[in-house]
Amino acid sequence: MRTMISGGTVVSPTGAQQAEVLVEDERIVGVAAPGAAVVAAFSEGARRIDASGKLVVPGAVDVHTHLDMPFGGTSSADTFETGTRAAAWGGTTTIVDFAIQRKGEALRSGLDTWHSKAEGNCVIDYGFHMIVSDVNDQSCKEMDVLVGEGVSSFKMFMAYPGVFYSTDGEIFRAMQQARTSGATIMMHAENGLAIDVLVSQALARGETAPRFHGITRPDRLEAEATGRAIALAKVAGCPLYIVHLSTTGALEAVAEARGEGQNAFAETCPQYLFLSADDLAREGFEGAKYVCSPPLRAKEHQANLWRGLRTNDLSVVSTDHCPFCFKEQKELGLGDFSKIPNGIPGVEHRVDLTYQGVLAGEITLPRWVEVNATTPARMFGLYPRKGVLAPGSDADIVLYDPTATQTISAATHHMSVDYSAYEGQAITGRVDTVLSRGRTVIEQGQYVGEKGHGSFVARGTNGYLT
Ligand code: URP
Ligand code: ZN
Ligand code: ZN
Repeated sequence: MRTMISGGTVVSPTGAQQAEVLVEDERIVGVAAPGAAVVAAFSEGARRIDASGKLVVPGAVDVHTHLDMPFGGTSSADTFETGTRAAAWGGTTTIVDFAIQRKGEALRSGLDTWHSKAEGNCVIDYGFHMIVSDVNDQSCKEMDVLVGEGVSSFKMFMAYPGVFYSTDGEIFRAMQQARTSGATIMMHAENGLAIDVLVSQALARGETAPRFHGITRPDRLEAEATGRAIALAKVAGCPLYIVHLSTTGALEAVAEARGEGQNAFAETCPQYLFLSADDLAREGFEGAKYVCSPPLRAKEHQANLWRGLRTNDLSVVSTDHCPFCFKEQKELGLGDFSKIPNGIPGVEHRVDLTYQGVLAGEITLPRWVEVNATTPARMFGLYPRKGVLAPGSDADIVLYDPTATQTISAATHHMSVDYSAYEGQAITGRVDTVLSRGRTVIEQGQYVGEKGHGSFVARGTNGYLT
C-alpha cells in the first residue's frame, strides 16, 4: 500500500522545506521535492494525504511515561490502551514506559509484568526502561541480559526512601554494570533522605497542605543530588541521563559535566516550563493536582530551562506522564501532603505545549522537532527507525496544523483522568493527522486507531556517546 503526503512543510532538526513524503506499507521510502520525477511515478495508485498548510514532522517520542503503575498507595489512571491513545491524539507515536523491579524481585519478573500490561493493548509502539530498586549480583547480571533484549536504560532513585531509593553504593555498582553493557543510567536526582527529615518536621508542625510538598523538597536538594549522580557516573564511566530536571542549579551541574566532555544528558518536562510553585499553592486542596516530584519550582527557573533547551544542556522534553484522578486518588492526601500520589498527567499535550515555546521565540521549529522526537529516539536507541522522516524509517508521521486554536480541558482531553493541569489554557497549534507505521491513527481530528496495533520495540544503546 502506497501513501503520499503532499503539499506540506517537512520539518526536521536541520530545517523546514516543502517536500512530499512517500510511504510504502509501514516504512518511509522517500522524501522528495514537489514535482520530482520520483514523485510522479510514485503517485500512481497511491493514497494521497493533503498536507497543505500543515507541518509534517516525525511522530514524537515520549521517553518518560508511567502507565498502569502502582505508586503512592494507588495506581496511575491510564492503562496502556488509554495512555497510548491519548499520546497519539497529541502527536506521540512511540512511548518508553518504566517497568518496575520491586525490592526482593528479579528484574525479569518486573519486566514480564510490564510486557503483559502492554501487549495487545497499545495503539502506538512502545518500549521499556527498567526501574532498578534492588541492586545485587543477580540484578546486575540481569541488566546485561535486558540490554540484549532491547531494554537498554535503567532508572534509579536518590529519592523515595523505602520505595525505590538506592544508596550511593548501590547506584555506583549498577553504574559500573552499565558501563560494561553500554546501558544508560537514568537518575531521579533528589536527596530523599534529607527530604524525609523535612517532611516529618513539616507534618509535626501541622503543615499539611499541598504547597508543603514543594517547600519540603528544596531546589538545592535536587542540585546536590544531580552533582552527586554526575560524580558517581564519571568515576564509574557510564552514560547518565537526569530525568525530569526542574531547577537552575541542577542544570548548571549538567552543563558543567557536559562542558568537560562527560556523557551526561538531561530532560525537562512541560510542567517545569509552564507551571510553577504558585500552582502548588492554589486555594484549598486544588494544589494537589500539581503535586509531582521534583516539585513545581519558582517561576524564575523557567527561563533558564528554556535556555538549557536552546543550548542542548537539556536535550529532551518528555512528559513524566503519571496521572492520578483528583477524586479519590489525589484525595488520599487530604490532611497530609505526603500521601498525595506524585504525578501530573501530560502525555497528550507535550507537542502542543512546546509549540507554544516556538511561538514565543524560546525555541526554533527545527529544535521543537529535535527535542520531542529526534533526540529522544537517538538517546534511547530508537534512531533512525523512529524520530526522523527518512527512507527506511518507520512511517510514524504527524501532520500538525500550526494555526489551529484549541483550549485544553479535562472535558475534551483523552487521558483517563478527571482534571487537566492546564485547564482553560488557550493555545495555538493542533495535531491534525497521525500515522503509526503507515497506519492512520488520527485522521483530521478523528480517532481511527486500533488497540493492538502498537508493538514492543527492542531498543539499541545510546546514540550520543563519545
Ligand atoms: O511525581 C512524579 N514524577 N511521579 C512519577 C514517578 C517519578 O519519580 O518519575
Ligand atoms: Zn522520578
Ligand atoms: Zn517519572
